[in-house]
Amino acid sequence: GDEDDLAIRPPVVTVMGHVDHGKTKLLDALRDANVVDKEAGGITQHIGAYQVTTEVEGQERRITFIDTPGHEAFTSMRARGAQATDIAILVVAADDGVMPQTIEALNHAKAAEVPIVVAVNKVDKPDADPTKVRGQLTEYGLIPEEYGGDAMFVDVSAKAGTNLEGLLEAVVLTADASLDLRANPEQDAQGLVIEAHLDRGRGPVATVLVQRGTLKVGDSIVAGPAYGRVRAMLDEHGDNIEEADPSRPAMVLGLNAAPGAGQNFLVVEDDRMARQIAEKREARERAAMQAKRRV
Ligand code: GTP
Ligand code: NA
Ligand code: MG
Repeated sequence: GDEDDLAIRPPVVTVMGHVDHGKTKLLDALRDANVVDKEAGGITQHIGAYQVTTEVEGQERRITFIDTPGHEAFTSMRARGAQATDIAILVVAADDGVMPQTIEALNHAKAAEVPIVVAVNKVDKPDADPTKVRGQLTEYGLIPEEYGGDAMFVDVSAKAGTNLEGLLEAVVLTADASLDLRANPEQDAQGLVIEAHLDRGRGPVATVLVQRGTLKVGDSIVAGPAYGRVRAMLDEHGDNIEEADPSRPAMVLGLNAAPGAGQNFLVVEDDRMARQIAEKREARERAAMQAKRRV
């Protein structure tokens, strides 16, 4: 489409950091802190990604979090050449400080050229030293704004729920300052598979992240080597949705198989086309596997 068709889309965020520094706890706390959805009352589904709404400077802003083990999802997707993430939150426990996997995560984010927001976590602990964390990361070239750099550092406690709004605001401000996040919601949808599994009752279930266009119930799609017609879509509350716009994660029912994480998906003209493309992809994957086995 042309420039006029582009609409602002929410940033997609991955949380990374050293083992036990609080990535899971933080993702859970952010999901719960989602002010707007609090009244929804639906049972939270683990769909591998979720969207929260926050208020920044009087405006409602959405943020998408990828909720799969950050590091793995990030690296496996990048290995497939897929860029799911716009911003990385680097979680550093304020009692432990910078550890080897902190630096690994930092290097992944740098290689992917995504801006980093640092969540200095566990500030509720008596031995927390958030200033030390700032000093340590400065040595690795990640310089806090308050020291004249361009990285936002936010002190939080995932456990106590302290300053989560501050962290969400930092993500939005970082996106506004350094990214131009726009996508055309009018075209046929394209995006990435975040995770997929075979559900006993529902058959193959895939969580997808829409990157362009709007995915609709009834669309014929190809997802990696899988294909099918979107029979139903669910959001992170388990509610049925008819459409998913750019940056929205959705659980998709109706595929013939569970595609791998990091595979792309796209809407095609009809079921026949979906099947043809999927079969070609599957044959290509099979050939690649056989070639690998021969080596
Ligand atoms: P891995 O996935 O194993 O790498 O760990 P993680 O980074 O997901 O850490 P997780 O969320 O599992 O937290 C590790 C431990 O730290 C748990 O016992 C949490 O309850 C605790 N924890 C997480 N955040 C906080 C916090 O803000 N304050 C305190 N005191 N404890 C926390
Ligand atoms: Na842990
Ligand atoms: Mg974890």
